[in-house]
Amino acid sequence: MTNVLETRGLTKEFGRLVAVDDVTVEIDSEDITSIIGPNGAGKTTFYNLLAGQYEPTAGSVHIRPRDGDELVETTGNPPHEINRLGLSRAFQINNVFEGLSVIDNVRIARISHEGRTLDVRSRARDDTELTERAHEILELTNLEDVAHEECANLSHGDVRKVEIAVALGTDPSVVLLDEPTAGMNPSETDRMVELVRDLDETTETTFVLTEHDMDVVLGISDRILVLDNGELIARGTPEDVMANERVRKAYLGIDDEEDTPDGPAGFEGGEQA
Ligand SMILES: Nc1ncnc2c1ncn2[C@@H]1O[C@H](COP(=O)(O)OP(=O)(O)OP(=O)(O)O)[C@@H](O)[C@H]1O
Ligand SMILES: [Mg+2]
Repeated sequence: MTNVLETRGLTKEFGRLVAVDDVTVEIDSEDITSIIGPNGAGKTTFYNLLAGQYEPTAGSVHIRPRDGDELVETTGNPPHEINRLGLSRAFQINNVFEGLSVIDNVRIARISHEGRTLDVRSRARDDTELTERAHEILELTNLEDVAHEECANLSHGDVRKVEIAVALGTDPSVVLLDEPTAGMNPSETDRMVELVRDLDETTETTFVLTEHDMDVVLGISDRILVLDNGELIARGTPEDVMANERVRKAYLGIDDEEDTPDGPAGFEGGEQA
């Protein structure tokens, strides 16, 4: 078992609000991990801390680079450096250029990642490699058919796939997906779940996602982390987490003691009717 990402006591305060509260987690490279929690639980803030958009108030972030075997502390590093080290992010930030083709979006992600030489011959050679690798990524993400389509013309489901392709463009060790199925219809949702599972198996990349759709969460996750008010209140396999009383109460709105006469009415309780 090797961890691709760790946080230790990670904390972010906005004034008096503690959006992420002393969170210590380890993400195993073998797992697809979902981070769940109610609106405002701190999921996106947690991502912003991992990716370097925010500096933590306290605590640290550690990432294992793509070809490294040890974690590197990235706390306080700027986003582009964290990205170069191996962490990519998709969704809830706009990383797709609508006026460009699908393949050019992936090529640009790679170019900005690698940095380019001005030497024309090596650039031409690199460009062949660049294009080949971009096509490989489009194959992996089932986007080869629309490689030369302008992103503005794509369906919502395909745009989200492009966002993943762009994130993969930098050969990351870990990709953070923020609500990958948001706004999707059921068949797009199913295809997205299948895609992430496939990518998890066929690439060296580890996927972490936040998601509100519990069917997606349970269908995709090896491990689940539950945030509530910035605190990590539970972690484990889907079975462990779904059986956890605090999770059932805080997140699913199910009060296991709703049958007691004086107990509060639960989510499924009939008293309110
Ligand atoms: N830049 C900011 N300044 C002040 N408060 C913030 C900022 N960003 C987030 N917050 C607050 O931090 C808390 C956590 O917000 P966050 O967006 O991380 O939650 P979330 O779990 O991603 O929610 P959602 O499920 O709705 O996406 C919220 O109370 C939010 O209002
Ligand atoms: Mg969010």
